[in-house]
Amino acid sequence: MKRKGKRRIATGLTLLTVLLLAAGVSAQEQRNSYAQTPPMGWNSWNKFACNVSEDLIKSVVDAIATNGMKEAGYQYVVIDDCWQVGRDENGFIMADAQHFPSGIKALADYAHSKGLKFGIYSDSGTKTCAGRPGSQGHEYQDALQYARWGVDYLKYDWCNTGTRNAEEAYLTMSSALLSTGRPIVFSICEWGTAKPWLWGKGIGNLWRTTGDISDTWSSHKKWDDGSCCQYGMVDILDQQVGLDSYAGPGHWNDPDMLEVGNGGMTIPEYRAHFSFWALLAAPLIAGNDVRSMAPEIKEVLTNTEIIAVDQDQLGREGRRIKKNGDLEVWAKPLSDGSRAVILFNRGTTEGDVSVSWEEIAYPNHISAKVRDLWAHKEVGSFTSSYTAKVAPHSVVMVKIAP
Ligand code: GLA
Repeated sequence: MKRKGKRRIATGLTLLTVLLLAAGVSAQEQRNSYAQTPPMGWNSWNKFACNVSEDLIKSVVDAIATNGMKEAGYQYVVIDDCWQVGRDENGFIMADAQHFPSGIKALADYAHSKGLKFGIYSDSGTKTCAGRPGSQGHEYQDALQYARWGVDYLKYDWCNTGTRNAEEAYLTMSSALLSTGRPIVFSICEWGTAKPWLWGKGIGNLWRTTGDISDTWSSHKKWDDGSCCQYGMVDILDQQVGLDSYAGPGHWNDPDMLEVGNGGMTIPEYRAHFSFWALLAAPLIAGNDVRSMAPEIKEVLTNTEIIAVDQDQLGREGRRIKKNGDLEVWAKPLSDGSRAVILFNRGTTEGDVSVSWEEIAYPNHISAKVRDLWAHKEVGSFTSSYTAKVAPHSVVMVKIAP
């Protein structure tokens, strides 16, 4: 009797493990089936910080739906921190009624009515980075509420998390979101501290690899509490080296949102920023006031030849293949067998930057066509290498096709 009982328990446990494993695998596959190309959209934080409201979000939705961004692929309109004020008597999260008088569902419906998708923000800790209520202990309830509202994307931050384990905390929210049955893209915003590229696949669809971006070419600024850091664009870029193999369809490295158009960089610098984010297969989340952009900023954000590199079906992240002082070459293989290549000059004087065919894994003796993705022009056919003059703080971005 005793032995039989033990066997029954053992069989039960094995079955349970098998079921759990099966469920775990399918949950991971389910999660990884969203965001097959890097998500594109807009987020309020970089320009508006805590000054968010229903009027702002609706006017941004209107702008994206009509100014060419939607056609270029921008889809998710995401409210970052500061939309939430507290919880009701049953623990459900409540929006700030003063700034969001019609409620979040009405806003999601509005975005959907314009053919766009809608995203929201929360935090794995007790409070968000701006001190609003976090989701710790309310994960399933919050996921349910987001699904009821029609949320399509959740950015989930890492402030006020105490001793929480990051992988566990993000897995809890990922499972909660999946349990609603609504396909909600999950953006892990853990700043790279716990190396989310090692565990993020199957939990999130994208994960931040660094601290916050700032609208500068290069800088390191410590936070008020002395912790490190808010970074300039090239400082973020340098931290992507070595991470390319972790990205792929459904699971992307996220070097943070775009600063294009926020005024702190020149147009060539913004072109470089946008080119690199596309080469890195990064999420393209605009962070400027898209309601009133200068034409040259809109031209950067809606350059469909660069966006096609980001959204390429192969889903390979590009990488740095050569560094010679301030002059660098970065390359990304594309699904048609061609390569997107960035010739980069991070210095302050003009330089000649060359890429040889061997460096991008072609035989040197073949002839390949070179197309300039900012000039929108065929440059010609070349054998063994291509060299361009690159202005200071600038890129030349080309597609090389044998
Ligand atoms: C953190 C994130 C930012 C933004 C703010 C909001 O700093 O990294 O992207 O979401 O919090 O408070």
